[in-house]
Amino acid sequence: MIYLFVTKNLNKNSMRMKIKMVDVKNILVLGAGLMGSGIAQVSLMAGYNVKLVDVKDEFVDSGYAKIEEGLKKLESKNALGEGVTAADLLARCGKSIDLASAVKDADFVIEAVIEKMDVKKQVCKTVMDNGPSHVIFASNTSTMSITEIGKDSGAPERVCGMHFFNPVPLMRCIEVIKGESTSDDTFNIAMDVAGKLPCLRGDRYIAPVLKDRPGFIVNRMNAPVIIYLHWAFDEAKKRGIPWERLDADAGGKMPMPPCVLTDFTGIDTNYHIMNYYKETLSPDFEPGEVITELNEKGDLGQKTGKGFYDWSQGRDAIMVKIKQAEAAGIFNLNTLFAIMLNEGCRILDEGIASGFKVIDDANMAGMNAPGPFGAGKKNYEAWAKVLEEVADKTGKEYLRPIELMRSGAFTKMRK
Ligand code: NAI
Repeated sequence: MIYLFVTKNLNKNSMRMKIKMVDVKNILVLGAGLMGSGIAQVSLMAGYNVKLVDVKDEFVDSGYAKIEEGLKKLESKNALGEGVTAADLLARCGKSIDLASAVKDADFVIEAVIEKMDVKKQVCKTVMDNGPSHVIFASNTSTMSITEIGKDSGAPERVCGMHFFNPVPLMRCIEVIKGESTSDDTFNIAMDVAGKLPCLRGDRYIAPVLKDRPGFIVNRMNAPVIIYLHWAFDEAKKRGIPWERLDADAGGKMPMPPCVLTDFTGIDTNYHIMNYYKETLSPDFEPGEVITELNEKGDLGQKTGKGFYDWSQGRDAIMVKIKQAEAAGIFNLNTLFAIMLNEGCRILDEGIASGFKVIDDANMAGMNAPGPFGAGKKNYEAWAKVLEEVADKTGKEYLRPIELMRSGAFTKMRK
């Protein structure tokens, strides 16, 4: 894993090349929570030396215990490689609660601290102030601007995004994001490191995200589907239709139908995501009435025992009710695909992805679900009509098809 940084200073008579060799060996994982522990585990499995850093010993220890548990499980299945034990890998995992000193020998930092801009900016600056002059800072933020995180760090060219999906060892996709100031070297090294991190469910898929825009690729493409679902929730309430009938509209074709999925992810998370896109993409992401009410009441879904459903009855009982319910006829699966195709076209239009295959592949690797372009190439005309109707019916202009989708011009773009 050797990289060359080459700076050329050319004048009439001379060419001077400054070459600095950087060999990524030491990865510092900052934040030992759900994501950080998964990232540290796969980094150890890739052969890197890892330092796990958090703000309190108990947090580092709990992250370390999760890594140990994950590795031991793999060891028991002989999945770590011939003769390799969890203890062998853990011998390369250090722990610290002092970032400024822990970063001194780090080549690459992957940040998975809480989703707060001031905390991310502060740890990024600490890394740049105290780390070696080649250290790269990669943020696992799911929503924040990479450009903003790196802006005041003193070395924005060495800051990029590395967005993992949960659970890290099992989800194949990693999005590597280029901020406005990210250098090509930083981006290429991050792509390379990401590609070396193993995945327990098949080959990793590394999606290059060429522009720092809200939601990157996968979350962005799925975001406007939530506008439509919030409309469907409100429509069902208005017509007095029970949630299991609305979920029956999915016809058993979604692993989790909309109300179950929203309860599972958390009503509050769903509400915050919509407010984030309302601020960064369009006012049409205003959360709907049903979600706003549930959020205000504190009925946040599975984690509080109540959301759309009463979870004390257990998930199986809920799923049986949905299976037996008559479909409400409010939402339609094809419409979800049409909305995703339109957003995928916006992603192409804005230059975030290099081609539509990247978008479909990233969706499959990050969501375990097909992207919209495969079917969209044949259906875009019919889907554009569907979206015109949906935009009229919901009053959400954001759902209206953009020219690239309506015209089918995306089919002639680079794959
Ligand atoms: P978590 O709450 O499980 O872990 C966050 C950890 O960061 C905690 O252990 C906390 O003590 C630590 N921390 C807070 N401030 C710190 C600081 N100044 N220095 C060092 N450590 C600090 O959160 P989770 O779910 O692991 O999320 C971490 C990041 O990953 C967030 O930015 C989140 O948006 C992002 N992400 C989360 C996904 C998920 O499904 N949970 C998916 C993709 C990205």
